[in-house]
Amino acid sequence: MALKEIAPVSDARLRGAMFVYVAAVFAALGGLLFGYDTGVISGALIFIKREFGLTTAAEEIVVSGVLLGATIGAILGGKAADLFGRRRVLLVTATIFGVGALASAVAPSPAILIASRVVLGLAIGLASTNVPVYLSEVAPAHVRGWVVSLFQLAVTVGIVVAYLTDYAFAGIEGWRWMLGLAVVPALVFGTGMFFLPETPRWLIRGGQHEIAHRVLVRIRGLADVNAEIEEIRSSLAQQTESGRWADLLHRQVRPALFVGLGLAVFQQITGINTVIYYAPKILQAAGFDSASGAILATVGVGVVNVGMTILAMFLIDRAGRRPLLLVGIAGMIVTLTVLGLSFRISNPSGHLAGIAVICLMGYVAAFAISLGPIFWLLIAEIYPLKIRGIAEGTAATFNWGSNLIVSLTFLTLVEKLGASSTFLLYALASVASWLFAYYLVPETKGRTLEQIEAFWRARPRRV
Ligand code: BGC
Repeated sequence: MALKEIAPVSDARLRGAMFVYVAAVFAALGGLLFGYDTGVISGALIFIKREFGLTTAAEEIVVSGVLLGATIGAILGGKAADLFGRRRVLLVTATIFGVGALASAVAPSPAILIASRVVLGLAIGLASTNVPVYLSEVAPAHVRGWVVSLFQLAVTVGIVVAYLTDYAFAGIEGWRWMLGLAVVPALVFGTGMFFLPETPRWLIRGGQHEIAHRVLVRIRGLADVNAEIEEIRSSLAQQTESGRWADLLHRQVRPALFVGLGLAVFQQITGINTVIYYAPKILQAAGFDSASGAILATVGVGVVNVGMTILAMFLIDRAGRRPLLLVGIAGMIVTLTVLGLSFRISNPSGHLAGIAVICLMGYVAAFAISLGPIFWLLIAEIYPLKIRGIAEGTAATFNWGSNLIVSLTFLTLVEKLGASSTFLLYALASVASWLFAYYLVPETKGRTLEQIEAFWRARPRRV
């Protein structure tokens, strides 16, 4: 072992490490709002429907308005982050989160409620494009996996907090509280981002070397950060891209773009949000007689999601991204297949309900150690700095667009094909995503972002 590695860690270095973690926790609050604002509607909807007398179509629009907004926010957010910086865009994001939460809480009509949900969606899209990139650009390479996965952890925590808030306010039919309380984390997120620095990589990209130097000294706790700056500069010098959309189709970028877009689509078409958004409905279809039992089991699903994400964070820089991805997706294939078959074999009975809960938990657990965190991590680390924002934003847009399609079609698919075939369809999509991961997704564990850029440059052309 090199002497450097066993030397005692200096105070400044410790402070530097602490700084990254504090920064990561605040930035990750963007993920918490993502989880909260997408999860909260499931419990709020029934009261909103009652108060405004919504039709089923209007109900669907209230739910999917957020996804539509997020699709737009993700594409705008990437370009904005490349132009104005990750930090500034995240400050604007926090403001939109706050305004959207308040506006939806006081909405006097369905139209204003839907408009505020679309605005909230914009913030979610912006956060999903920028938080992972912010985290990956401030984290040291050896812990980047778990630092970026804090984003996914925050998403899962946000979902559980939303379920619990729904539960707490259900007694007073307090849907306005459910939606409005999101203003609290939005305030904390905004305040945190105000005090956090811009990422050194974006600063160097814009030629602001001195500020970048100061930020790096602060976040690494090292006096000499010249080697890291040199690595970023020389990697930038080798990039032939100029930061335009057309660069996405550049020969050296295409393979990474394909991997990001593929994972974006697979993360959604393997069905995760049918469970996250509709778990109580699935459980009732499987024979859970009481609505409250189904809701409680749903909270259980949310807790498993959080727990397994923590396990993933622990393993992601040790085992690496690929093993987790392949094992997790294999687990999704098995659980979805058993779920699909069990709907076919048994009649709605206590038996099926038990199997359904085990399968749903197993499926969410398998997602939480694989496609959940690893999709957001990889798209924040595999693109060249000059186009990182727009490339990540494009992948995030594909993710939200696929989410929208799956969410809008799930209930219809169940009605037309039956629950069994629908879940078997998601199992099939999982098989395709396993093959995709096996053949195309590279290992990025322990490499600096610049080494990853060099890897794509040196790679023979396949796509
Ligand atoms: C996905 C979301 C999903 C969440 C569940 C995220 O990685 O992008 O669509 O709701 O995981 O934990």
